[in-house]
Amino acid sequence: MDRITICRPDDWHLHLRDGAMLEAVAPESARHFGRAIIMPNLVPPVVTGMQAVAYRDRILAALPDGSRFEPLMTLYLTEDTDPADVTRAHADGSIAAVKLYPAGATTNSASGVRDFDRVRPVLEAMAEAGVPLCVHGEVVDADIDIFDREAVFIDRVLDPLRRATPGLRVVMEHITTRQGVDYARDGGPDLGATITTHHLVINRNAILAGGIKPHYYCLPVAKREEHRLALRAAATSGAASFFLGTDSAPHTDPLKEQACGCAGCFTATNTLSILAEVFEQEAALDRLEAFASRNGPAFYRLPVNDDTVTLEKGAPVAYPAKIETGEGPVTVFDPMMPLHWRVG
Ligand code: NCD
Ligand code: ZN
Repeated sequence: MDRITICRPDDWHLHLRDGAMLEAVAPESARHFGRAIIMPNLVPPVVTGMQAVAYRDRILAALPDGSRFEPLMTLYLTEDTDPADVTRAHADGSIAAVKLYPAGATTNSASGVRDFDRVRPVLEAMAEAGVPLCVHGEVVDADIDIFDREAVFIDRVLDPLRRATPGLRVVMEHITTRQGVDYARDGGPDLGATITTHHLVINRNAILAGGIKPHYYCLPVAKREEHRLALRAAATSGAASFFLGTDSAPHTDPLKEQACGCAGCFTATNTLSILAEVFEQEAALDRLEAFASRNGPAFYRLPVNDDTVTLEKGAPVAYPAKIETGEGPVTVFDPMMPLHWRVG
């Protein structure tokens, strides 16, 4: 097979930032994707329905003329979030989901949740109204090893939270472990999980072996090879629980390449070519459409995109090593392998 046509994919976890960075990165995602769930971790975060609508307008203004890319907005859950604002914004189409960051877990998460009892009324209102909760699933306890934070989160936080809030629809964002795969697979129709492009490609050696490689550092951090293999098996299985969320998260090179470098891999530019390569390696090109284009809309109860993209196999695809932005250069994720699938 050297040519496949699939329904246009969506990205169910994307960081577009704001200002000059937004202007540079929005076209990279809009080129291939139909829609994306837009993360709200701006500084300050997007916490109200009105702020989400204003941010959506800034994103739409940053798109190339004629683009049909649709940003699906999220609210950043804080201990002060008003349940009525969430359900109103969801009912009128201003938001598609709410994002839960444990305070301190990742980039710009200081306003996140410390005391889960304080968000109980919001979660109950969301369960009632069917508003999905996108969860950054890592505990932040200093005594839990960073490579164990996802597995511990599932046991200590996610499972109790789901049991305490029947009917709450949850997306485990950017799962990185076998434990995440197992929990999502057994969770029934109200539980989904996004998987990034880069976690299908790298394990922790990419960051640490042969010199420290800041452009492979993201959160949740890439784990051992056994976990990468579990993620590849899940993504290429076609199972409805698993769908693409690139977590493309641009930071400028100076912010990545410093003594305390920012977390995030920027994959918007070459994601589809990488995914086609991965799915071909797993002899699963026929399931790429389920993962990238069908399972996500099914979970979010949205129609599949009405147009298609075609991928063609040929000589290695050229893509820029960096993109220029008004804030400085952003390095494009290097999958350390030639990519043969060009998006037509
Ligand atoms: C994200 C960012 O930079 O906003 N970074 C990352 O490593 N993925 C935050 C996040 O999704 O955790
Ligand atoms: Zn993210």
